[in-house]
Amino acid sequence: MIGRLNHIAIAVPDLDAATATYRDTLGGAVSQPLDQPDHGVTVVFVDLPNTRIELLHPLGDGSPIANFLERNPAGGIHHVCYEVADLIAARDRLSAEGARVLGDGKPRIGAHGNRVLFLHPKDFYGTLIELEEV
Ligand code: CO
Repeated sequence: MIGRLNHIAIAVPDLDAATATYRDTLGGAVSQPLDQPDHGVTVVFVDLPNTRIELLHPLGDGSPIANFLERNPAGGIHHVCYEVADLIAARDRLSAEGARVLGDGKPRIGAHGNRVLFLHPKDFYGTLIELEEV
């Protein structure tokens, strides 16, 4: 059911510093920062040959990653995103298997304009999983 790794999202306390690390130390191809007010984050994309890293920084009040950074002040991997062909079919299969879908279970429009859902990290070995319909 799950397909390609779409991205790995890393929450960072200092977006400029993290961008410089990925650009200058790791030699990555980094984007300009992009504010995504609907998602409460500012994102820098790092394009890799086979996937993408997203550096996330809180934007505005009530950002979904603010609590994560309070618990992990140095930053950390926030979620991994797998592609699925049919998000509703994936959700229904996961629910039938006993996995918990976060929120009301209805897909939201994600950072790339595609439909997404998030799965409870306690059901997946401590990893928050995003499913994106591609
Ligand atoms: Co994501």
